[in-house]
This record gives sequence, structure tokens and C-alpha cells, in this order.
Amino acid sequence: MLAPVVCHNQLAKNIHDTCSQFGAAHRWGPGENETGMNRLALTDADKAVRDWFVKEAKGLGCEVEVDDMGNIWAIRGGVSDSRPTQDGSGKRLPPVIMGSHLDTQPRGGRYDGVLGVMAGLEALRVLKERDIKTWRPVGVVCWTNEEGARFPVSMVSSGVWAGEIPLGKAHSLKEVAGQEGKTMMEELERIGYLGDKKCSYEEMPMAAHFELHIEQGPVLEAKGKKVGVVRGSQAYKWFTVEVVGKEAHTGTTPYAQRADAFMAANSMIHYARWTGEEQDVLVSVGVFQVFPGSVNTIPGRVKFSLDIRSSSTDKLAQFVERHLRPKFDSIAKNVGANSQPCSVTWQEDTNSPAQLFDEGCCQAVKVSALSVLAAECQGNMEKAVGLVKYNMVSGAGHDSVHTAKRCPTSMIFVPSKGGLSHHPEEFTSEEDCVRGAQVLLESVLRFDRE
Ligand code: GLV
Ligand code: MN
Ligand code: MN
Ligand code: MN
Repeated sequence: MLAPVVCHNQLAKNIHDTCSQFGAAHRWGPGENETGMNRLALTDADKAVRDWFVKEAKGLGCEVEVDDMGNIWAIRGGVSDSRPTQDGSGKRLPPVIMGSHLDTQPRGGRYDGVLGVMAGLEALRVLKERDIKTWRPVGVVCWTNEEGARFPVSMVSSGVWAGEIPLGKAHSLKEVAGQEGKTMMEELERIGYLGDKKCSYEEMPMAAHFELHIEQGPVLEAKGKKVGVVRGSQAYKWFTVEVVGKEAHTGTTPYAQRADAFMAANSMIHYARWTGEEQDVLVSVGVFQVFPGSVNTIPGRVKFSLDIRSSSTDKLAQFVERHLRPKFDSIAKNVGANSQPCSVTWQEDTNSPAQLFDEGCCQAVKVSALSVLAAECQGNMEKAVGLVKYNMVSGAGHDSVHTAKRCPTSMIFVPSKGGLSHHPEEFTSEEDCVRGAQVLLESVLRFDRE
């Protein structure tokens, strides 16, 4: 059993006070407090929090490197006096990393992503101030554009790191609808975060990746649990679907002569949503564009996003291939019983199969959670056991999903009030944030000492 290492309460202060400075908060209704966060990837607000992170990490004595996806690697060297901190050829051992992201949804909360980074920084501060020696280097990584809210592939930079997404594809991603159409590469350059290191598991290897994150769902709170040990994540795919019909005058074109792209898309979305519910697959449309976007022109073109999730990778693939694609084709051909055909095309933007995390890392999280909670419960282990939720499956995507393909990985969840996330009122208490940070630090130390 490791001796407990207490995290500073400053962590919570940092999250609530410091990080909410970087990005516009939302006023949620007249007379209410500003809350939430708008810090889309590679915007000026993202640059500001990145610059702050780099300064803090350097202040803690870390070496800071940026790779060609703009991921920031802040690493403290191995300092063990009892074990070698280099391999046989004199290269330093791969670091144990605490990673998460600084970007948010356009109307996001204050904890999604940044909590994991802040907790990592706090862990580094504790290691330094208490002069705790580790065998391997320990560090924090801030992954770029995890959300996929600005550049529409989520977890894109960890995907490049894992060799799952080509660098060129990531660099040429364009902003989603309604923004200016800049590419990721342009924005990385503009804010000064196109680094010279190669974003790759071979060039920037990790011994392990641990991620603290808010649950973003209702399970922990509803079950009265304080910490979740995350065993893996569900599968998801993102598509951009484009329906093409023909623009025509709304006042002069009889129904039978219309090829109304909007009406076709509308039927497709209804079908996907209700069949999804029947088959226990989650279907959501978050982006919808109608062209040319004029009151008195029948839409000739519609583009919409499809986010589809299931605990089973196979079930998800079958749902798309056996149900959605043929049905969308037939809807396009015959929009109403009495109108002209449209056409439909699909572009796959994200494909994230269900992923299991590493047994050993999950064990490190589990034992750490129990040790932190047992200390809180004055050694009452039975009570501590009742406060941990094991084998959680994440409904959301996280960079850990990609890192798990190349290094031992696990995640720690802490409760989200009302299960709410991707919403300005997302809330996790100070106490839960600090406890999560403590479990994160202990998990890293346990992994390092095994
Ligand atoms: C990734 O953040 C997701 O959409 O779950
Ligand atoms: Mn997140
Ligand atoms: Mn998110
Ligand atoms: Mn996410």
C-alpha cells in the first residue's frame, strides 16, 4: 500500500477560477451567473490556456515539447535513486502520462477535459514539492481538438499519435458549418502550436496513459458512488450525410415536380432515430444545413451530421450497413409517394470501435480509489468499497480510447451533477475534483512502482 499523498485544494481553485478565465462563459438566462465555457480548439481562448499551461509546467521544472498536432507534452524526468531511469542505450524511459484536453464544446462546461489536465499539473506540483522520486518520467499531455466540435473529427490528435488517422487528413480538416472554413494546419500555425516533434507513438512513446474525466452521465450520482474505474468505451461513428435534390420556386412548383432535399433528409433522420431506439443504438444529429437557405426556394441540398453509438462495434456496423444505408437510398429515391428523386451520399468522419482498457491500469485505478476513499472513511474499507463503481463503460469518446491501442491505459470518472455535460451548467464539486486528482496521482505512482 502506498503512503497517501495529499493533493492541494488549489486544484479545485485552479479549475474554478483559473481555467474559466480562458474562454467566454455563458450567461444562462437573465439574472443568472455566467457559467460554462466556450473554448473551441485552436482559437485565441485555447491559445491563452495553452500559454498558461506551458508557463505553469515550466515553472514546475518540466521539459515542454509540442508535436505537429499541437499536443503539448510537459514531462518531469525520472528521478529514482534506486532504479535506472534510462534504457540500455541511454534513452530515457517512456513517461507515465496523465492526459486530457483543453478544448470545449461551443456551449460547453467548465470540467470536460480541463479537469484531467489541471489534475495532472497538480500531481506534478505535489511530486515536486514533496520531492517524490519516480522511476519513469511522469508528465501531462494536452491533446488538441478532442471534442471535434471545431474540426469535425473527435479525438483527432490522439488518433494521429496512435497511427489511426493520417497526419495529412488531420491537418486539412476544415472547421464545421457556420465557421470561417479555416483548416487545422492554418490554425495550428496561427496560434503558434505547430510543433516540431512528430505526433506518433513511436516518436513520443508512453509507458501508460491515465485520464481523469467527469463522467458526463448520471450513473455515479444515481448510485451514490464517488469514483468510477473505467474499463472501456462504447463504439461510435460520425458521418456527414449529403442529400441532393433540385432547387425550385416554392410558389410555382407542384409537389409532384419537387426534389426537396430537406424533406428527404427529414424522413431519413426520423427513420434513423426511431430505428435506433428499437435496436438500442444511439442516433443524434447535431449539425444540419439547408442550401441555399432561402424561404422561397425549395432546398436543393442538405447536409447533416450523424453521431451513432453502441456498446457493440458489430451491432453499430450492422445498423449502419443493413438498416440506414439501404433505407436512406430508398427514401432519397422516393421522397414522398408523389415527387421527384433525390440522391444521398455518406462521408465517414470518425470511426471509433469499442475499446477495452488495460487490466493492470484499471487495477491501479481501483486500488488507488479504494485507498483514497478508505483514508477518507477513517479506514472503513467496507464503506470505501461501496463508493467505487467498477467496470464502467464510457458513453463518450476520450483520447484514452486511442492511447489504449498503443500503451496501457485507464480512466477515472468522477460524478457529474444531474449527469449533465456538453452544457454550460455541467458541474462537478470541488471535493469530487480533488478526490479524482488524488486517485489519478496514486494510480500513476502505483503503475510506476509495479
Ligand atoms: C467525444 O468527445 C465524444 O463525442 O464522445
Ligand atoms: Mn472530454
Ligand atoms: Mn466533450
Ligand atoms: Mn470527449
